[in-house]
Amino acid sequence: MPSKDLEANGSEASRETGKRAASKPAGLKAYGSLFGSSDVMLQLYEQIERVAQTEATALIVGESGTGKELIARTIHDRSARHDGPFIAVNCGAIPDSLIEAELFGHEKGSFTGAAQARGGYFEHASGGTLFLDEVTEMSPVRQVKLLRALETGKFFRVGGTDEIVSNARVIAATNRDPNMAVKDNLLREDLMYRLAVFPLRAPPLRERGSDRELLAQHFLDELNADNNAAKTFSKGALDTLRSYNWPGNVREMKNAVYRAFILAEDIVDLPNPNVAQRAKRAPVNGDAVNVWVGTPLAEAQRQIILATLKHCGGDKKRTAKALGVSLKTLYNRLGTYETEESGAPQ
Ligand SMILES: Nc1ncnc2c1ncn2[C@@H]1O[C@H](COP(=O)(O)OP(=O)(O)OP(=O)(O)O)[C@@H](O)[C@H]1O
Ligand SMILES: [Mg+2]
Repeated sequence: MPSKDLEANGSEASRETGKRAASKPAGLKAYGSLFGSSDVMLQLYEQIERVAQTEATALIVGESGTGKELIARTIHDRSARHDGPFIAVNCGAIPDSLIEAELFGHEKGSFTGAAQARGGYFEHASGGTLFLDEVTEMSPVRQVKLLRALETGKFFRVGGTDEIVSNARVIAATNRDPNMAVKDNLLREDLMYRLAVFPLRAPPLRERGSDRELLAQHFLDELNADNNAAKTFSKGALDTLRSYNWPGNVREMKNAVYRAFILAEDIVDLPNPNVAQRAKRAPVNGDAVNVWVGTPLAEAQRQIILATLKHCGGDKKRTAKALGVSLKTLYNRLGTYETEESGAPQ
């Protein structure tokens, strides 16, 4: 790990994320687009530095909001491909029937609606990096095609007969434990081994010690710089930053700072979400849930999901249908709520 990169001030990351430069809090190290000085982050920087020098496929594993995409971006930026494209694809957001055409492209008339031939993400990312987020959400059938493309470095457009040579470096990510995903038949074992030539772990915020305050201060500094303001954290806000578990990780904390910044005159207060949620739990009126103005979206979603589940007498299938989400999504959400309720000391 070149120490000069770590010691460099925040301007490098600010340049790479296209943000206005804000002075970096003392003690906060920056590496590529990532910020953090805890041991787990320093180890991660070392690993990124190594993998960036190679063409190896990497699999980034970590909870939601821990910075997996930023890690992928940083690998790309530090690699020989940095002048090429970086294309991020959320595999979980593309209907399974379309993913093959999205990744590999399609020829005209290859399926209903394919009026024009079109290149896919593998072609667009040529000379650069293709970041496949939520790779386990692709069905096993599509995973076979992906594996083939990775193994042979070649693929066909859907409906195409000419083999295309891929020149994209693939980095994948998942917020599931890959071994568990294999056991649950969500991830093909052969694909896991192929992707995880170089496994990387995005550590959750709760393992990053004093990075929590430093990162929050960094986000506040950025907001101050962007808004020509000079707001500061209250003592209570600093307590919350240290003691709250931040189940949504960096994303949740960053959004909490943003919300608190908007609400604050000069002193930015950050109420402990545990306490605030207990005090403000939405009143349920018959079939309606009253959600307070300013309730974080994730919390509003939780209240709607739980109230609908109750309304449906605990029938998860009906609940998922009523909410217009897949049963899998509902189970995921309920699992998260259970973990949070019984979670580590807040
Ligand atoms: N180390 C970090 N330094 C600065 N900002 C960070 C860091 N880690 C994450 N962030 C910020 O947190 C947010 C979430 O990051 P990112 O989208 O990379 O997470 P993710 O793990 O890919 O999330 P998901 O699992 O939901 O896809 C972004 O706004 C990102 O800029
Ligand atoms: Mg992501």
